[in-house]
Amino acid sequence: MTSSVPTLEDLPPVAGKRVLLRADFNVPVRDGEIADDLRIRAALPTIRWLQEQGAHVVACTHLGRPKGKADPRYSVEPVRARLAELAPGVELLDNLRFDPGEEANDPAFVDRLVEGFDAYVNDAFGASHRAHASIVGPPRSLPSAAGRLLAAEVEVLGGLRTDPKRPFVAVLGGSKVSDKLKVIEALLAVADQILVGGGMCFTFLAARGNGVGASLCEDDMVDTCRSLLDAHGDQLVLPTDITALGPGGKLMDPAAGGDVRQVGTSVPAGWTGVDIGPGTAADFGDRIAEARTVFWNGPMGVFEDPRFEAGTRAVAQAVADTRAFTVVGGGDSAAALAQFGLANRVDHVSTGGGASLELLEQGDLPGLAALRGDWAG
Ligand code: 3PG
Ligand code: MG
Repeated sequence: MTSSVPTLEDLPPVAGKRVLLRADFNVPVRDGEIADDLRIRAALPTIRWLQEQGAHVVACTHLGRPKGKADPRYSVEPVRARLAELAPGVELLDNLRFDPGEEANDPAFVDRLVEGFDAYVNDAFGASHRAHASIVGPPRSLPSAAGRLLAAEVEVLGGLRTDPKRPFVAVLGGSKVSDKLKVIEALLAVADQILVGGGMCFTFLAARGNGVGASLCEDDMVDTCRSLLDAHGDQLVLPTDITALGPGGKLMDPAAGGDVRQVGTSVPAGWTGVDIGPGTAADFGDRIAEARTVFWNGPMGVFEDPRFEAGTRAVAQAVADTRAFTVVGGGDSAAALAQFGLANRVDHVSTGGGASLELLEQGDLPGLAALRGDWAG
């Protein structure tokens, strides 16, 4: 099980040794500037520990999806500069994905990567669901361990699967049911309630026979949602009202016109559901307040548009205020928390998006299996 992943203390002494640190420094870069350095700061405890032990740390990361060729748009230079400020003395290799061997998990690329190193540390939680060379390769030949960040993510997210304090309330949003189906199924096995908002709620509402108007709806998922509701209707909590944008309205563009109105669970023809309504926000808030464990992934509406941020803001505030142990999955929900100034009011903000969902779904990741020495692929 994941709990047996080797940690830094399990490494042979690293004083005077060269340690290869796989980090996930895949940070948002705009016009050459890092928009959010959370993922760099999150690796600092591991870097500090290694440096205190006297190791020479060489970090490596992917950045973006350059598809196996050097591409200046995905240069790690901004990361290198920030790292030099936060952790002087740490080297940073070129973007791993400039070489096709990284994503192909090419053994020859792994050999080149590990050459000259004495130990390997994986602190790249956000990339540990990828069976890429730098994630699964080095533990075959080097003494290897999980860094502090990876170990903490595994403990928190793995703990949700095994030992949550109850009631355990999961709040799921985001646009597509198809992206979240596996995590919904995994959460149904362990959570007491799953509160469904965001674009994906319309496929569930359609499965209950409601009109969805022009809202996002995955027609080919309606039957799946109906089966889930039939089998788990007591656990799945759907919105009871919706904020909708009228015909002619445009997201992010109030000047375009279009009425904004609260509707019930049926969205009229020509209208688009863009947020949970105030009644739903209050109901979700109450359930979050009564929980002892909360996991939140995905916004409740189009929170980037101030007209439609209320549902996401209410959930963020409830997550901040509850006495429950609170875990927020990466990506959009973390960005929403930051937008509302609430990021430091939750117990754990995951640095992984896809990785946090996959760990919840499967209880394991390729990068963890590799550290345990049982990655076969
Ligand atoms: C992420 O940002 O999701 C991780 O860094 C993984 O990146 P990827 O989705 O491009 O593999
Ligand atoms: Mg991703």
